[in-house]
Amino acid sequence: MKTKLVTGKLDRVSSDLLVIFALDTAEKKQSPAKPAIKLLTAGNGAAKATASILGSGEFAAGSCDTVLLHAPSGFKAERILLVGLGKATTAEVRKAAGAAVRFAKPRRLRELSIVIPSLDGLDPAAATRALVEGAYVGDFDPDTYRTDRKDQSIEQLNVVLDSRANQAAMEAALREGVILGEAQNFTRTLVNEPGNVMTPTVLGQKAAEMCSQYGLTCEVYGADKLKELKMGAFWGVTKGSEEPPALIVMKYEPAKAPASPVLGLVGKGITFDTGGISIKPADGMEKMKYDMAGGAAMIGAMQAIAQLKPAVRVISVVCAAENMPSGTAMKPGDVQIAMSGKSIEIINTDAEGRLVLADGLAYARQLGATHLIDAATLTGACVVALGMVNAGAFSNDDDTYQHFTDALKISDERFWRLPVEDDYRELIKSSIADIMNTGGSRYGGAITAAMFLKEFVEDTPWIHLDIAGVAWTEEQKPWMAKGPSGIAVRSIAEWVRSYAK
Ligand code: BES
Ligand code: ZN
Ligand code: ZN
Repeated sequence: MKTKLVTGKLDRVSSDLLVIFALDTAEKKQSPAKPAIKLLTAGNGAAKATASILGSGEFAAGSCDTVLLHAPSGFKAERILLVGLGKATTAEVRKAAGAAVRFAKPRRLRELSIVIPSLDGLDPAAATRALVEGAYVGDFDPDTYRTDRKDQSIEQLNVVLDSRANQAAMEAALREGVILGEAQNFTRTLVNEPGNVMTPTVLGQKAAEMCSQYGLTCEVYGADKLKELKMGAFWGVTKGSEEPPALIVMKYEPAKAPASPVLGLVGKGITFDTGGISIKPADGMEKMKYDMAGGAAMIGAMQAIAQLKPAVRVISVVCAAENMPSGTAMKPGDVQIAMSGKSIEIINTDAEGRLVLADGLAYARQLGATHLIDAATLTGACVVALGMVNAGAFSNDDDTYQHFTDALKISDERFWRLPVEDDYRELIKSSIADIMNTGGSRYGGAITAAMFLKEFVEDTPWIHLDIAGVAWTEEQKPWMAKGPSGIAVRSIAEWVRSYAK
C-alpha cells in the first residue's frame, strides 16, 4: 500500500472512495435521543451531498457503522463512505480507518481517500497517525495459502487534509503511522505462518533480513552458542526437536544515544508448542504455531525503532525453538541449570516459554541491558484471568511501568497490570532445585509464571507482557481480520521512544 497526504477541498478530491468520519454529537439526556450527526471535516463541503442520508435517521454514526453514497452530487469522488466513530478518540479513529479499508477490499476498490477528522479535543496529528495505522492493520488478511486468493490489498491510500493548517505535522504523523502499521503487519505475517514453514531457523532468517534492510545489526546463533553460554533452560526446551534453535540478537545503537539506558527487548519464539512430553490435548493444538508471537512482536518493534530512530540504545534477544516430545526431549523431573546458574526442576515440559525466557533475560542483562521488557504467549491462566480483551502486564519497578502506561496512551493497546509479590514465590519452591518451572496449583498461573521470570531479571527494572489471550483473534472485527493481531508492537516501540524524550 502506498500512502500520501493530499490537501484540498473535499469536493475536488478525485477518488474511488472518499471516506469521511462522522460522530453523533447529540445530548444523550433527551428521550427519545435525537441524533445530531456531525461530519468530522474542517470545512462543510460535504454537507449538501450528505444532507439527505444524515436527515433520514438511518445512520446513527455508531462505532464502525458505515453508509455508502454513490455518485455524490458536486463531488469528483465516485463514492462517499461515511464511517461512524462512536466516540471521539484516537482508538475509534484507528478502528474506523480499518473498517473503511475492510469495506473497500472485497468491493475491489484499490484506492481510497480518508479525510483527517477535525474535531475539538482530538489532536489532529495523533488522529492522522492512528488513521494510517488503522488503515494498514485493516489491509492485512491471513489467507496466504489459499489458491483462490485474489490480491485484494489496497494499492493507494490518500490521507486528505481539507485545511491548510499543520501540513508538516500531518506529513510526519502519516510517516509514523506507516512505520508502525507496517511493523505491526510484519509481525502478523510472521505469526500467521504455519509451524512447518516458520521454524526457528526461518524466524532467524526473517529477523536478519529485516535488520539488514533497516540498518540494524543482527546475529543468529545456533545450538553451539547455547552450550557455550550454558543456557541449560533454553537448551532443555530445544533438545526434543529435530529443528535447531535460533538465538536471535538484534541491536540498535545510534551514535547520538547516551551510554545508558540500554533497553532489552526479549521475546518468546516457540515456533510450535506441542507441550513436549507433557503433551497438550489435540483439540486446538494447531493454534500453537502462534507461540512465537512475543518474539515476532520484538522483531516488528525493532523494525519500527530502526525507522523512528529514537536516541536510545536497544538490544533485542529472541529465543526461538520448537517444543517437541521425542526420545531426546526433556522430561518432567529433570533438573536444568540456567545460564544464571540457578537450578530448575522441570514439573511440566509445557511450561517451556518461561525456560527460554529465563536464559533470554539473563543474556540481555549480560549484553548490558539496564531495563528489560519481555513479551510472550506465556500462560493459559492469563487468558482465564483477562479473557481476550486485555493482555497481562507485570513489573518489578513502578517508574519503568509508568513509561509503559504512558506508551499505552499513544498505542491504545490494552494491558492490565497484575501483581508480582513475594508471597507467590512460595508456590514455585522446589525440594531438589532452586525453583520449579510451574506452581503446584493452577491458581494464579499467570502470576507464578511471572514470579519465575522475576528470578532471572534479579534487580533489573523489568516489564513482562503475557499476550497469550490477545495475540490471536478468534473472530474478525469490522476493522481487522481474524488471526494474528500484532499486539504489543506499537506499545513496545512507544515504550522505547519514551526513554529518548
Ligand atoms: N504456549 C502456552 C500458553 C498459551 C496458552 C498460549 C493458550 C496461547 C494460548 C504455554 O507454553 C503453556 O503451555 N503454558 C501452560 C503452563 C502450565 C503447564 C503451567 C499453560 O498455560 O497451561
Ligand atoms: Zn507450553
Ligand atoms: Zn508455549
